[in-house]
Amino acid sequence: HEEFTKVKNIATIELGKYEIETWYFSPFPPEYNDCTKLFFCEFCLNFMKRKEQLQRHMRKCDLKHPPGDEIYRNGSLSMFEVDGKKNKVYGQNLCYLAKLFLDHKTLYYDVDLFLFYVLCECDDRGCHMVGYFSKEKHSEESYNLACILTLPPYQRKGYGKFLIAFSYELSKKEGKVGTPERPLSDLGLLSYRGYWTRVLLDILKKHKGNISIKELSDMTAIKAEDVLSTLQSLELIQYRKGQHVICADPKVLDRHLKAAGCGGLDIDVSKLIWTPYK
Ligand code: COA
Ligand code: NA
Repeated sequence: HEEFTKVKNIATIELGKYEIETWYFSPFPPEYNDCTKLFFCEFCLNFMKRKEQLQRHMRKCDLKHPPGDEIYRNGSLSMFEVDGKKNKVYGQNLCYLAKLFLDHKTLYYDVDLFLFYVLCECDDRGCHMVGYFSKEKHSEESYNLACILTLPPYQRKGYGKFLIAFSYELSKKEGKVGTPERPLSDLGLLSYRGYWTRVLLDILKKHKGNISIKELSDMTAIKAEDVLSTLQSLELIQYRKGQHVICADPKVLDRHLKAAGCGGLDIDVSKLIWTPYK
């Protein structure tokens, strides 16, 4: 029965102004087993079986943005921090929604243990979610990101890169290095490889003299293993006399940087108002 129950049930969802085709199975409660389409409130993420229910809900729902604190605002782009313990239902709804686009992640029922960073495009109708990442409040493994998603209508516009960069800005504020939880999806790995390459090679280009993996890690909050694996995959590491040596020929760096694409939407760190979770 395991296989049978994992067949994709919900084929499409309605969310805000978008109708979105789903990618994977998500374990919605059994009363939704007979549905192929679900209607989401784009603000509280409650989901319903029928359009009329959603319309009735929209007349009553007070939310115009995710619950929680707005910790970043730059132009029309906002980031909200949602505590899964204070906003349990929202956290669970977000997980159900996200699983529709995540293949191998197990759904966290224990949303209490997570913070959700929800990125929104804001206009006069409200703050519309474009994507999010989740983060454990306390990670033994120095994870700074558990799940990351850009909703399909917003993909390939640089929001994924923004979310990744944001997760490292939080780590910098914590004074810790971070790494994403594994396994990464193909698209996730592509996005991370691009981010790591751009950040590390930008530093190598500007830096004069020797620099170690540890120093690069401290400067960027990218875990040393990820620094090493990125530089190794670009064949920028040689092993001499028992030590890793970074070879930073400017022409080679430029070639790799070009291949890694642009950084996308920049984060203005001065607009991040945040203190680490205690
Ligand atoms: N095909 C090829 N490359 C792709 C791609 C696609 N469909 N989508 C993203 N990439 C790569 C590109 O290198 C891209 O950079 P470029 O546009 O400059 O070439 C880079 O990833 C990041 O693009 P960006 O626009 O910032 O990412 P995104 O907003 O589309 O979000 C994910 C990336 C991974 C968050 C998004 O694909 C997603 O939500 N996927 C489903 C959930 C998932 O797999 N999460 C990761 C689990 S670990
Ligand atoms: Na993930």
